[in-house]
Amino acid sequence: MAKTTDVFKNEIFKGKVLLCSGGGSGICRAMTEAVVRHGGKAVIISRSFDKLEKAAKEMSEATGGEVIPIQADVRKPADVENAVSKTVEKFGKIDFLINGAAGNFLAPFQKLSYNAFRTVVEIDLLGSFNLTKAASEHLKASKGSIINVSMTLHYTGSPYQQHAGAAKAGIDALTKHWAVELGPFGVRVNGIAPGPIVDTVGLDKLARSGASYETIPLGRAGSVTDIAQSTVFLFSDAAEWISGHMLVVDGAHWLTHYTPGYPGIVLNPPSKL
Ligand code: COA
Repeated sequence: MAKTTDVFKNEIFKGKVLLCSGGGSGICRAMTEAVVRHGGKAVIISRSFDKLEKAAKEMSEATGGEVIPIQADVRKPADVENAVSKTVEKFGKIDFLINGAAGNFLAPFQKLSYNAFRTVVEIDLLGSFNLTKAASEHLKASKGSIINVSMTLHYTGSPYQQHAGAAKAGIDALTKHWAVELGPFGVRVNGIAPGPIVDTVGLDKLARSGASYETIPLGRAGSVTDIAQSTVFLFSDAAEWISGHMLVVDGAHWLTHYTPGYPGIVLNPPSKL
């Protein structure tokens, strides 16, 4: 698979500063690393400082760039405001924001507690709102760009995913509202909706055991590099007139949800949950 540096110029993000929630692992870590590999600096935030610190160190070593970990729970406005202030203290500004912090699990309606539903909506949807609100003036000042991480499972009402689906549908809506309200300030707002991405917590939690992805129209499951490529594109000047768009990166997988013979990624029978 082509690395981002095989496709895009090396230093396209030189001098740019990224703030990324959920950047300590999986998809968001790869998104962060791609920005840093192309010359940017980054702050990654999440609840677990130890994991963040390790990820930041590894990314700095791998890229030669600067990645700073800051502990923050996106559900807490005071935490995200602190993360934004520290980012600006350290790097002077914020050009790019990734709303990636998320929580998910499979749960049939009857087993989804009040608190479980609220928890996922608070992390994914309210967390995205909180961080964007805290960073918005800095993004306006830099004429920056936002990427919201969504998913495709709410496009068809996949089972056992109503908590995440409701939250991500809200994120899709915010992507449009922010594109309209922040556009006049020069801020672009887009999203990425990944399909099944191998070697991520998300896929570990959502895929049925033994799932095969050979029947995805493009013939394979995704990798974090697929999402990194899209991130570099959306943050780059090549996308300077793209805003309010949710880019589905899934090898056409979602179009096959529920199609006989296709292995949807949420097919565990309720008895196993
Ligand atoms: N099935 C059903 N309910 C679940 C669940 C599961 N697998 N996992 C958590 N819940 C419920 C809990 O039982 C609790 O509800 P209750 O109080 O009614 O019992 C509620 O969700 C909150 O769980 P808790 O663990 O207290 O909250 P948390 O904020 O510490 O973490 C998650 C919640 C869901 C985010 C946790 O699973 C997590 O941290 N996951 C790692 C990140 C992740 O999921 N990434 C996936 C990205 S796609």
